[in-house]
Amino acid sequence: MPKVYIKTFGCQMNDRDSEALAGIFLEKGWSLTAELEDADVILVNTCSVREHAENRAISFLGSLKRLGVRGKRLVQKNSENSLNANRYTLTAKPVIGLIGCMARNRGKELFKKMNHIDLVCGPSSFDKVFEYVDKIKKEKVRVIDLEDRVRNEEFYHASFRVDAHHAQVVISTGCSNYCSYCVVPFVRGNLRPRHPDDIIREIERNLSLGIKRITLLGQNVNDYNYAGTNFVKLLEKITKIEELKEIDFVTSHPKNTSKELFYLMASSPKIRKHLHLPFQSGSNRILALMNRGYTREFYLNLVKDYKKIVKGSLSTDIIVGFPYEDEEDFNFTKQVLEEVRFRYAYIFKYSPRPNTKAYSLGDDVPEKEKERRHAILLNLQKEISKSYDN
Ligand code: SAH
Ligand code: SF4
Ligand code: F3S
Repeated sequence: MPKVYIKTFGCQMNDRDSEALAGIFLEKGWSLTAELEDADVILVNTCSVREHAENRAISFLGSLKRLGVRGKRLVQKNSENSLNANRYTLTAKPVIGLIGCMARNRGKELFKKMNHIDLVCGPSSFDKVFEYVDKIKKEKVRVIDLEDRVRNEEFYHASFRVDAHHAQVVISTGCSNYCSYCVVPFVRGNLRPRHPDDIIREIERNLSLGIKRITLLGQNVNDYNYAGTNFVKLLEKITKIEELKEIDFVTSHPKNTSKELFYLMASSPKIRKHLHLPFQSGSNRILALMNRGYTREFYLNLVKDYKKIVKGSLSTDIIVGFPYEDEEDFNFTKQVLEEVRFRYAYIFKYSPRPNTKAYSLGDDVPEKEKERRHAILLNLQKEISKSYDN
């Protein structure tokens, strides 16, 4: 039975994509392996959101060279019999795939540089990965597919789930928000909502597997709109699925998070009373440079409404060291963190991403200063999070 090894970097969207891919291989009679040395196919599902994420994936891909370049590979086989230990066996090289967001961002260059990579495939073409692997094995060719298109629905149909109690369900792929620092619209393509019926079918499939808790995934769930079904309408439909016990969703962009959503959250016992609401910066000047489409005052008002209507908890994302961010801007961010008191927060140091609008602004906050601001916010948040722990 052939074996596939899948390594995943990046966000929840990537986790779900890797799970769906694993499901496709399993349904074709393959098995999953956690041992690189055992794998016939190695898929590396990558992230480009920060340089650090790319570097980790590149170094992992580089390390796979030891499994052989195109042709043959040498594997050190451990034998039960100590006399035969360290025997070397000649085996066929595994098919190595660089897939996901970094395939779109750096795939062409890495395909040229790393001769041991056989497949480069962007997120839009994940429905074709199995077919490509087959072609590579049969025809001994290399394949690169960086197209931006709608995925075939069948991609989501396999029954394999990593968690027996909770599942993620993609409601839309891509993003058309173009926050100035963000590579996602470039690597994942424009926003593409899935048909509400397809989403509901996938939830029902989860229920038939005994999974009653789900997380809906979209880069900005509030952008969801399929022929007049907006996110609130979709969510309302989903709450009506009887057997379903718990629903939550990520991510909500503050600019189009509505009171209507809060009223639905408050009225449905199935919707978890938690909202991930990234504010990124507390400075209006920086928010404008980030192209976020809201101000600090707007954000704080939204939080006030949320707390009043939903009475739930909050979490957030923050970027420190965005171009031109000075001490005053940073203090505004600190103030928002202190005022809102999030249950948890993800705090990132700004990482310039080629092609994005912010890239042309340079990267004028020195690394040391980014680290200082990062540490201050981390410590502050640690204290706030502690107060929720009991
Ligand atoms: N669609 C989601 C998630 C985007 S990526 C959203 O809009 O919230 C997750 C987080 O990574 C972002 O919220 C942001 O805080 C951070 N991020 C994105 N690009 C970044 C960059 N160039 N440098 C540092 N952090 C970044
Ligand atoms: Fe990136 Fe903004 Fe889209 Fe989130 S909403 S994925 S931060 S462009
Ligand atoms: Fe996710 Fe990273 Fe892509 S955050 S969408 S895997 S760039």
